[in-house]
Amino acid sequence: MKMPVDKGIDSTLNLMTVGYPFIQERCEALQSDVFETRLMGKKMVCMTGKDAVHLFYDTDRFQREGAIPKRIQKTLFGENGIQTIDGEKHKIRKLMFISLMTESGLKRLSAITTEQWRLKAKKWTNQEEVILFDEAEEILCRVACLWAGVPLKESEVRSRAYDLGALIDAIGGVGPRYKEGKMARERTENWIGSVIERYRDGAMAETENTAIHTIATHRDEAGQQLNTHIASVELISILRPIVAVARFITFGALALHDYPLYKEKLQKGDPEFLELFTQEVRRYYPFTPFLGAMVRHDFEWKGFQFKKGTSVLIDIHGVNHDPKLWDNPHEFKPERFKDREKDLFDFVPQGGGDPKTGHRCPGEEATVRIMKASFQFLVDELKYDVPNTQDLSINHVRMPTLPKSRFIMRNISILE
Ligand code: HEM
Repeated sequence: MKMPVDKGIDSTLNLMTVGYPFIQERCEALQSDVFETRLMGKKMVCMTGKDAVHLFYDTDRFQREGAIPKRIQKTLFGENGIQTIDGEKHKIRKLMFISLMTESGLKRLSAITTEQWRLKAKKWTNQEEVILFDEAEEILCRVACLWAGVPLKESEVRSRAYDLGALIDAIGGVGPRYKEGKMARERTENWIGSVIERYRDGAMAETENTAIHTIATHRDEAGQQLNTHIASVELISILRPIVAVARFITFGALALHDYPLYKEKLQKGDPEFLELFTQEVRRYYPFTPFLGAMVRHDFEWKGFQFKKGTSVLIDIHGVNHDPKLWDNPHEFKPERFKDREKDLFDFVPQGGGDPKTGHRCPGEEATVRIMKASFQFLVDELKYDVPNTQDLSINHVRMPTLPKSRFIMRNISILE
């Protein structure tokens, strides 16, 4: 069967003017969950829906090696990191990340998060206003370094937080945004590379059960230590995504502002509702738009031919807003998660499938713990006004996106 084709010579401009809903909209127009197009001059198969997530995470049919564009490796991921490897090598590297996510490690992460919000917020009471997103990135940079065992001088917090944020901001960026991300990667790899070397040389106190220890002492499939560059890329893959949680926190603050009834519910301290609210923030607001992989060998799926070497994109944002999977998907409704059965393929803000065997994010529980500690702090310990002179709209064309004003807060006081 012939795969539906998106008309036009190349859809790059279309993607850049539509943004997050690009795959879902094209699929609706073509009445198909799969279509073929050209992006940046390259043939690409775009897919949406739960069945397509299943397919995408079939490691016999898709690989990551050779699939991740260089521009993403030079900014967001780094080169030769976990995102670009497959098979046994990937499995062993993945266990290294998963081994960090123990209950005691996650509890420590939660406690550090609360402590760092408290310390930073003390300074806000003297300020006319603060921009929540910028503050959250800084707070989470401290959290990430403390949790991972990476030394961070007070004088460098701002610039390190800026660089870790710039790696994320570069994902859909061309021109200056891409260049900024590339320079931020160079600076961050130099910094973390030298920290790894110092740790290995014994120039720093040994900190077992931390990311720096685990990564610096990790042995690969051949029993070798990771070289300094790869070790730094992997340690940055802990620090950067922790800082990335600042986006979910900013979206969550927007939800608290837009839905005061939910804020009241959270103030009552119901842990179950905190869980539902957190999951709905991860589903509803746009963060990861798509993910890419490459066909490992020719195969047929639902009558369509997939040819070896073809690039595919799975529609992460679209699956989280698929009307076949979610009632009124464009409504913010935490209650939808009550009694919803866990499914590895329909709720995919951080990828799908089993994280142990595939590329799904190993940091989902860590993300949830950071978000919960942060929301709890915002509702229980902080009083603030949200001035209506700011622009809180979310531009779905920019990737990654945020409320335009990055959430300004005024008249801040600490609740006793
Ligand atoms: C992978 C999203 C937080 C560590 C991923 C993937 C996504 C994602 C979409 C790719 C899945 C795939 O390729 O199939 C997010 C988002 C986060 C977040 C939106 C929160 C804002 C975290 C945290 C950590 C983490 C807190 C660690 C502390 C990783 C690593 C990978 C990954 C190491 C690579 C996994 C692999 O290739 O096997 N994440 N993540 N992430 N994430 Fe996260």
